[in-house]
Amino acid sequence: MAELIDGKRISQEIKDELKEKVAELKGQGISVCLAVIQVGDNPASTVYVGNKKKACAYVGIESLAYELPEETTEEELLALVQELNGKKEVNGILVQLPLPKHIDEDKVIKTINPAKDVDGFHPQSVGALSIGQRGFVSCTPAGIIQLLKRSGIEIDGRECVIIGRSNIVGKPMALLLLRENGTVTICHSHTKDLKEVARRADILVVAIGRAKFVDADYIKEGAVVIDVGMDRDENGKLCGDVDFEAVKEKAGAITPVPGGVGPMTIAMLMHNCVESALMSQE
Ligand code: GUN
Repeated sequence: MAELIDGKRISQEIKDELKEKVAELKGQGISVCLAVIQVGDNPASTVYVGNKKKACAYVGIESLAYELPEETTEEELLALVQELNGKKEVNGILVQLPLPKHIDEDKVIKTINPAKDVDGFHPQSVGALSIGQRGFVSCTPAGIIQLLKRSGIEIDGRECVIIGRSNIVGKPMALLLLRENGTVTICHSHTKDLKEVARRADILVVAIGRAKFVDADYIKEGAVVIDVGMDRDENGKLCGDVDFEAVKEKAGAITPVPGGVGPMTIAMLMHNCVESALMSQE
């Protein structure tokens, strides 16, 4: 039976460390402030944005909320981002995705000052990560590295297989595992014999967005399984990309859904905001 990797506990630990750090900075007259922009009222986005604001309040980070109507034009949104780029007191700018179809997401992301890109989505941040330079790292894969490290799981020299090649999770995950000296393979929809490749993994990260897709056949005995999925099963119940009940019997360690990777994303967003405030002092 697999050991449970408790993302709720580990994310709480990180938020408590950051809370202390933010209080210390406040004592030095340095405040931390995140601007969160939501366009339209996508219900999932509203929940995510609400959780981000709550985390800010807990850690002691000021949050500025911009709730814009669905009809907001691209020009209006770009103008707001530029205004926030110019505000010294704003350390982080987060534009919640997805944006309405009439707005070009890439253009919006590119407009964010890389020094305030706490999501780590700007091409400059992604480029810095790929060549091992300093920059913000996408919060979900950064959170997974923390889950592994704080659970005492060795990455160096181990076979790491990622299923999914998105810009937000799969690709930065590969770069981070590589930075930790893992041997990394990325699988995707064109991969031949996915099960066989997945079964090589000492550490398997699954981020494909398909409910309970990965069953015990994909798992090597004792492997560490990280489930990035946030799906609904046939009864509408929240579940991951991994069939937890089947896989937990074979894996060495596994993240649950909910309570695994999800809470880590927000903890790392808080981490990036604090880093941004520190860097702005340099
Ligand atoms: N939508 C879903 N996840 C995220 C995220 O991590 N950042 C932003 N900006 N939008 C998202």
